[in-house]
Amino acid sequence: MRFEVDGAPLEVEPRPGQVLRTLLREQGIHSVKKGCDAGDCGACTVLLDGDPVHSCITPAHRLEGATVTTAAGLGTPEQPHPVQRAFVDAGGYQCGFCTAGFVVTATAIEGDDLPRELKGNLCRCTGYRSIGDAIHGVRNTSAQGLAGDSVAPPAAMRVVTGTEPYTLDATTTGLAHLKVLGSPHAHARIRSISTERALALDGVLAVLTHHDAPSTLFSTGRHQDRTDDPDDTRVLDEVLRFRGQRVAAVIAETVAIAERALQLIDVEYEVLPAVFDPAVAREPGAPLVHGDKGPASRILDPARNTVAEFHGRMGDVDAAVAASAASVSGVWSTARVAHAALETHATRGWLDRDGRLVLRTSSQVPFLVRDEIAHIFELDRDRVRVFTARVGGGFGGKQELLTEDIVTLAVLRTGRAVQYEFTREDEFAIAPGRHPMRVGVTVAADADGRLTALAVDQLMDTGAYGNHGVGVMFHSVHESVAVYRCANKRVDAQSVYTNNPPAGAFRGYGLGQVIFAIESAMDELARKLGIDPFEFRRRNAVVPGDALIVCDPDEEGDLAIASYGLDQCLDLAEQALDRSLTGPDGWRTGEGMALSMIATIAPRGHYADVAIQLLDDGTYLASVGTAEFGNGTTTVHAQLAATALGTTVDRIRIRQSDTDVTRYDTGAFGSAGVVVAGKALHHAALSLRRMIDERGTIPGLRAEGHHDGTPRSVAFNVHAFRVAVQPETGEVRILQSIQAADAGTVLNPEQLRGQVEGGTAQAIGSALYEEVVVRDGEVLTRTFRNYRVPQFADVPITEVLFAQTHDDLGPLGAKSMSEAPYNPVAPALANAIRDALGVRPTELPMSRDRLWRLARDAG
Ligand code: FES
Repeated sequence: MRFEVDGAPLEVEPRPGQVLRTLLREQGIHSVKKGCDAGDCGACTVLLDGDPVHSCITPAHRLEGATVTTAAGLGTPEQPHPVQRAFVDAGGYQCGFCTAGFVVTATAIEGDDLPRELKGNLCRCTGYRSIGDAIHGVRNTSAQGLAGDSVAPPAAMRVVTGTEPYTLDATTTGLAHLKVLGSPHAHARIRSISTERALALDGVLAVLTHHDAPSTLFSTGRHQDRTDDPDDTRVLDEVLRFRGQRVAAVIAETVAIAERALQLIDVEYEVLPAVFDPAVAREPGAPLVHGDKGPASRILDPARNTVAEFHGRMGDVDAAVAASAASVSGVWSTARVAHAALETHATRGWLDRDGRLVLRTSSQVPFLVRDEIAHIFELDRDRVRVFTARVGGGFGGKQELLTEDIVTLAVLRTGRAVQYEFTREDEFAIAPGRHPMRVGVTVAADADGRLTALAVDQLMDTGAYGNHGVGVMFHSVHESVAVYRCANKRVDAQSVYTNNPPAGAFRGYGLGQVIFAIESAMDELARKLGIDPFEFRRRNAVVPGDALIVCDPDEEGDLAIASYGLDQCLDLAEQALDRSLTGPDGWRTGEGMALSMIATIAPRGHYADVAIQLLDDGTYLASVGTAEFGNGTTTVHAQLAATALGTTVDRIRIRQSDTDVTRYDTGAFGSAGVVVAGKALHHAALSLRRMIDERGTIPGLRAEGHHDGTPRSVAFNVHAFRVAVQPETGEVRILQSIQAADAGTVLNPEQLRGQVEGGTAQAIGSALYEEVVVRDGEVLTRTFRNYRVPQFADVPITEVLFAQTHDDLGPLGAKSMSEAPYNPVAPALANAIRDALGVRPTELPMSRDRLWRLARDAG
């Protein structure tokens, strides 16, 4: 079959049933991305004879004589298409994995009905405002500038032309493919497993089972200190604790052969009793998920399915409630949510010429992956190299080791280069999501509106494994509680195993769920007292000089208010509210707000060692371990270095996220990319400048920087909404959305605005409709089509306002702002809906049917 791709003729015979996307990528055309393979996300969009199509559902055999144009065929980094230039000028992307598809779609747009024209393209990062700006020709970025300017990312032109390589955008000869047989049972033991029929299939290289896997227990969740998470996971285990857990893996010459071989594996299971409700799982007599584990696994109490728990007391909550002028008690619940990063998890592994293991992977934490792979397989760290190309979105979901371990086993067993790529269905069904929580809250106040009691009782479902089950639990009840000054506090929190799929790190790391409950309760208490909700927060939130106390005033910590912009955020959000906005006839209008506080760095150490060197041509090479996955740290790092060196960003090159060529970095999580690695780089660049001042411009001059992630400051966010709710349908329309953020010095206004808009859009999705539905341990929502992430048409413009603060702990006064914008959105929306309907929603998502029922029951 002959056709033309990006102006060049191509002759290739498609396999029966093959689609255009896989055919193009097999030909090394990587400007076409895989997001879903179901025609839902648009990452694979190409022009077919001038019309935009989703290449993942376009039969390849129809291409005879056709012309196909991908983003790379529209323009080059040197000579971009006007639409590509517009995306750069507008800052119309973050991770950029969706961008090639958006650019292609945008070239074919006629008219101005963007919600309709863009309904086939999803972006998980931006919140769409900057994409709309690109299409409307709005310029938001500058090509040059220093810290404080909206500099475009160094990779901008490559991203918009589809030429920036992501995890699997490389050609490796002799590549074998790995597919996994998932457990059909939520809890079972493998009685016997026979791989002979699968092995006999032509093209099958190996079939791996628990007999082949190392016995070392580990956690897929990665932290600086590996003991933060329980060692409860094996690469392949004899006991299966959730549906979809690996039973066996096939390595074969092609994906199709591997998939066929999976059906030839004969397994006899002993089905075990399962438990799906954490409240039941913690009771005596419940089936035990990890009853076989001993103290070495660091599970608090395997006999109660309890990974970790926390109980804190300060003062006397019950007495304070009894003596209060008003009190509110309630229980709030949140659903499992998917990260839905457009690039799925993937790893490609091989042995280099020296026999060293190399992993190219979609990770936020390449150094932590290297260390854990070395631990599991008893390899010397020097014998393992892990690196990332640009990663297509993370949101915490890639702070896990989900594909690297099984690829390592396959590479070591076969000696071949092996690739394992999650499907979109895998992302929903087996990749960890956000922890579902039930949160009981009691708050009470005196007649002056001073908080006298705050009690939180949190129960979270960590699923079948405890990855992040400890850290999320502690974090969820930390800043959410510490933000309020109150003499009487009580906190109980428990992280419990079930036979549901594992949960994991998600933007906000547990705070969002508990803040939803506390801020809802605070809103209700303000109502009871007849006090304006902004004023109620002003009376009760921490102020400079306050210790940040959960329940123990004597607890010495490294967290402090090094800068304070909460007062400004409250004022900015309140002043921006337009109270003249109302809904259509028959709709009820309401207004709501909420606040959040978050530590600027994760606790217990976060390290960055960086270097910067003056090169022969007068430019600088910065070496930073942090990965770039849309967090924008690369851009800000270049700005920080250029500012310190008194040069321009185009003279700073960043080499990053490769354990062989960059120095150690804990990783890109906990919003640490700017305040840890960025600060280390800023120091290094200042040192280099001093060296140049003293010795002259000598090529090869090099300086190093280090930061250990302590002490830590806090950042604040306030969100406010005006909404209209149709009580007869439960439909919510957002009339106004405002977020005020205290990010310290704003190093790149456009990029920071994008983080706030993207975080808000993601939070609106999980507040109103996103839910991974799990029944008896089985995930029912496995596609974008039935797990709805916000589309262009769904996301309102959010007015983003910045407090004017300077944080002495951050580089040039900056604070982190990646996770923070997510946290106040759901409670602000819930409070606005409560205001509109007169009844309070207590469950996330606040879906139409739930709101309709709520309105109906309230009459
Ligand atoms: Fe759109 Fe990341 S920039 S998915």
